[in-house]
Amino acid sequence: MPTLDQTVKTYTIVGRIKEDAQKFQDKGVGYIGKHIVGTGEDAHITTKVLLDLLRPHIILVSGKRGTGKSYVGGVIAEEIAMLPEEYRNNISVVIIDTMGIFWSMKRPNDQQAELLKDWDLEPKGFENIKVLVPFKQLEEYKESGLPVDAGISVLPWEFTGDEWGLAFNLERTNAVSIALEKNVNSLIESGQHFMIPDLISKIRDDRETAPEVKDALENMLTVANQWGVFGTEGVNIDDLVQPGQITVVDLSRLRSSGAWSVRNFLVALIARKIYQFRVVARKEEELAKMEGTVMKKKYPIVWLIADEAHNWAPSDRETVSSGPFLTIAKEGREPGVSLVMITQMPNKIHQDILSQTDLVITHRLTSKADLMALNAVMQTYLMEDMWKYINSLPRWPGAAMILDDNLEKIFTVNIRPRVSWHAGGTAVVI
Ligand SMILES: Nc1ncnc2c1ncn2[C@@H]1O[C@H](COP(=O)(O)OP(=O)(O)OP(=O)(O)O)[C@@H](O)[C@H]1O
Ligand SMILES: [Mg+2]
Repeated sequence: MPTLDQTVKTYTIVGRIKEDAQKFQDKGVGYIGKHIVGTGEDAHITTKVLLDLLRPHIILVSGKRGTGKSYVGGVIAEEIAMLPEEYRNNISVVIIDTMGIFWSMKRPNDQQAELLKDWDLEPKGFENIKVLVPFKQLEEYKESGLPVDAGISVLPWEFTGDEWGLAFNLERTNAVSIALEKNVNSLIESGQHFMIPDLISKIRDDRETAPEVKDALENMLTVANQWGVFGTEGVNIDDLVQPGQITVVDLSRLRSSGAWSVRNFLVALIARKIYQFRVVARKEEELAKMEGTVMKKKYPIVWLIADEAHNWAPSDRETVSSGPFLTIAKEGREPGVSLVMITQMPNKIHQDILSQTDLVITHRLTSKADLMALNAVMQTYLMEDMWKYINSLPRWPGAAMILDDNLEKIFTVNIRPRVSWHAGGTAVVI
């Protein structure tokens, strides 16, 4: 394990722009780890690495299985939750949790208490964590004793016909897709708050659609209705985004055929609502500034942390959540939405997101295609240099390389241990 060098007092802030570095010094940062100096057996950790939390960022977290990616997501959320109040109350964190591992942030990390001591840290649980689950699964979660707070669902009328086609992975020219799109749009135009059975009867009454197409659609929609994500509750932005709150959206129990599309529906809705919320917020903030008034409602900026992110905006196909994620990546800085994309396979993340990424935190990777994807993010570096850094990483969990586009630098770091409980450890037989 690493030895700690406590004597050096300096630090590096990653992701911070030059003007802010002067103005804010070490304010508004999160302590994410320490530099690693040396390689192999001689590697030791030295000065602190801090992450800028003042401005929006697009961060890519990658690495092979079990190398500490989700853990990084937790560290970032913890740091936001531990900011001084004046910063914390302006930020809200939303975590898309596919593995059902983030609810445990409510508990202190007693399992790594010894390690935390080495880092001068103490186990700590967080109070302001809210866990949302698909509405129909609320009872199931409660019965298994998991601390859940509220349910969310997809309102069918909030998606256009086009998006329905994407959710079902249909070719746009396919007869099923055309009939689906047409009928969804027609229901939307009528202003009806329709549910799936309404859509099915609308399709059944559609004289222009062939019987076999109707049957196919009816089958598809009946199955979709059993997914348990459609409902009339929707996603209430005030449940999702609150000053100083970490909202965990646990999608780990959504299983069924086409499960990924189901999750994508919910994730698309969440990403879109967050973006819209911040666009409105920016307008109100500008107005208040112009008129010298105080805003009645607080609109925190949002950090959206998405685990298994290659599912939400994949590189090889368009899904229903692609659009909302690309919008955040391309336009989220101005309204104040940060994105943390966590994945085993950076190569599978949409190119437009990679090109907007300003910070990469990567653990070990062995696939050349994945390294090339990182190289595309930071073209200032030579592939050979990146290979060198990544191969020099010690083999312990938490060892990572950071590529910082602002500083135009590469660092090797050890991510700090989590203070709150991380429920994502590898299963062992004994
Ligand atoms: N910085 C760290 N310090 C100490 N332990 C760590 C650190 N990072 C990870 N670990 C350990 O490694 C385990 C695996 O981490 P994590 O669940 O984040 O992996 P992952 O990369 O997300 O894996 P997967 O690809 O399977 O989702 C953790 O349960 C923890 O015990
Ligand atoms: Mg993980």
